[in-house]
Amino acid sequence: RQKIILDTDPGIDDAMAILFAEAHPNIDLVGITTVYGNTTIDNGTRNALYLKEKFQLNADVAKGTDKPLVRPPVGATVVVHGETGFGDCHASEPQQATADPRPAYQYIIDMLKANPGEITLVAVGPLTNLALALEAAPEITSLVKEVVIMGGAFGENGHRGNVTPYAEANIHDDPHAADKVLTADWPAVVIGLDVTEESMFSSAYLDALKADAGHVGEFIWDVSRYYLRFYAQKLGMDGCHVHDPSAIAYVIDPTLFTLRKGPVRVISDGPAEGMTLQKYDGRRYMTDDWQDNRSQHVGVQVNSDALLALYREAIINYSQGTSGK
Ligand code: BDR
Ligand code: CA
Repeated sequence: RQKIILDTDPGIDDAMAILFAEAHPNIDLVGITTVYGNTTIDNGTRNALYLKEKFQLNADVAKGTDKPLVRPPVGATVVVHGETGFGDCHASEPQQATADPRPAYQYIIDMLKANPGEITLVAVGPLTNLALALEAAPEITSLVKEVVIMGGAFGENGHRGNVTPYAEANIHDDPHAADKVLTADWPAVVIGLDVTEESMFSSAYLDALKADAGHVGEFIWDVSRYYLRFYAQKLGMDGCHVHDPSAIAYVIDPTLFTLRKGPVRVISDGPAEGMTLQKYDGRRYMTDDWQDNRSQHVGVQVNSDALLALYREAIINYSQGTSGK
């Protein structure tokens, strides 16, 4: 089983990703670190603790930072994830579950040092906690197994953002942190919007999950109502894209994705702020800025039918207590 720390801004599709990680027998969800993004850091941390309590997760929860490294905060996306981050489901205050005393970046550093080469960091929110961990302990680059990120948009000319034509939300929230994380000397896999938007949880898919996956399917259905209304009103879709669960799917079965190799950079200001770029032509250029950075892997294609089947099977088995966990 692959040990993971999931860095997340819960968040509706974040909740879907947390439950996927918990459900699948290939993954050992050791920690959840929270970050501002879809909602405030307090809401996101309460939502994570709520899931820990409701689904009896063994994972630690460590509270992360409330703001980006340099740029002013963009603010919560209430229109997408609701006032408290969980749409119409207002998570109650946890009765027993408490957060780890350490800030998220310190928790990440300590866990990587205690388990060298064993932990995959999966980040599905703004990358600020990871950047803070790198700043405080640069040696963690050689201790992590892999870094898997949901973020960015690598479609034609980078044109397929969701916050701006060029920028995806997680990267746009903290482009300086993203550039730090993506140019660090550690192995990163980036699954961007152009790939996560290839998979859709249709309303029929979520109805069937509600019918077939007991209390887990019911929670996913409940929490997704607000999200589906946003998709219907803003995008005219009868369902939602599968953003954050796609990063978990990569950890479970990397063969679902086609990857492209090459260094990645992030634009940190100006009209293309938050735009992600990858150099993949293998050529040498006049500046060292690009070629001296480590090559990373960027997703360019996904087998979405297989991904949707994998999610459904994992959640159903988990709800029936037959996931082997
Ligand atoms: C990303 O932004 C957030 O709204 C989602 O949780 C996801 O991580 C998609 O752009
Ligand atoms: Ca997220």
